[in-house]
Amino acid sequence: MLVEGSAKIKVEGVFYNPKMKFCRDIDMICFKHMPGKTYLDALAASGVRGIRAKLEAGKEVYFNDFNRRAVKVIKENLKLNKIEAEIYCEEAGSLMRKKMFDHIDIDPFGSPAPFIDSACFSAKKSISITATDTAALCGSAKNSCLRKYSCFVEKVEFYPEVGLRVLAGKIVAEATKYDKAVDFFISWAKEHYYRIHAVIRRSSRMSSKIYENYGYLAYCKKCLHRECIKLEELSKISECKCGEKLKVYGPMWLGKLKGNMKDIVKEVNKKEVDKNVKKFILQLAEEVDVPFYYDIHEVSRKLKVSPKPVSLIVEKLRDMGFKASRTVLSGHGIKTDADIKVIESLLSECNL
Ligand SMILES: C[S@@+](CC[C@H](N)C(=O)[O-])C[C@H]1O[C@@H](n2cnc3c(N)ncnc32)[C@H](O)[C@@H]1O
Ligand SMILES: [Zn+2]
Repeated sequence: MLVEGSAKIKVEGVFYNPKMKFCRDIDMICFKHMPGKTYLDALAASGVRGIRAKLEAGKEVYFNDFNRRAVKVIKENLKLNKIEAEIYCEEAGSLMRKKMFDHIDIDPFGSPAPFIDSACFSAKKSISITATDTAALCGSAKNSCLRKYSCFVEKVEFYPEVGLRVLAGKIVAEATKYDKAVDFFISWAKEHYYRIHAVIRRSSRMSSKIYENYGYLAYCKKCLHRECIKLEELSKISECKCGEKLKVYGPMWLGKLKGNMKDIVKEVNKKEVDKNVKKFILQLAEEVDVPFYYDIHEVSRKLKVSPKPVSLIVEKLRDMGFKASRTVLSGHGIKTDADIKVIESLLSECNL
């Protein structure tokens, strides 16, 4: 028997990844602040996430897995934790077409793409999605990205953020079909996975406005300049100021990837939380929410100078009046509203 958070679980014969405890720890802190009472753990395996959602965030949980073995294990795990809950043994997509839940959680093997449509159809208030098809999302498997996410991307040095925005864009595209608007609550990428929590609201007005934050990334491989291009601005794309042809990737989400994290920060500061989880959440809360981060190693390589400490560049940018922060997406990334020329000038100054 394993203990994870407040849950005791047996995982014999079903999928369980202990490394994802970090993700589930963050989930539980978020779930307390996300709207919705009924919560469907749609791809539950051992049921660990749903059980924790009940015990730690007070959700009214429902479980589903089309694998009979998983259903048996979930039953045993519910007993072990003295919880009663309904368990379905159905194909997740067809269950979500039949039943509505406040909050839907999709945690599949690989790509969530086949489930996002029905999850957006069923979810009344919140949606949580994991993706582990990182090669497709970040553009190293271009064809997969086209097939799963209807998006053209290639691998760039800030690929974790591109992947996150491709996934966010897919959620927006699926939700708005049902006149549902999406507000991203918190989103991150780590190691082999992407995770997005979003709040869903029924609003046809909002669901059309949301496309103001949807569009393309225009990127110059030569000078590392990048631009966000709204859908109606596509015709504006010309060549880069340096003379190189711009690469155009998308369409993807270009808006905010998180909401106001004040309540989450308050909770993390007062509660006994794993120190790495706490550090991660506090860093994410501080993060400047603008697309796309600069990879300081890549800029330094291009300039043929040695990289300077990220914290120092952040400080200098702030002194100059720009917004700037580190990013949880990369140890050598900087989020800022300054452009590449400013970053270059800071990295070139030898007396930093
Ligand atoms: C990655 S595991 C889920 C892990 C679990 N959420 C956790 O936190 O440990 C995916 C589970 O989804 C189930 N599954 C895969 N495709 C499904 C489908 N189309 N409908 C229902 N269950 C499915 C598998 O049997 C497997 O148990
Ligand atoms: Zn250029």
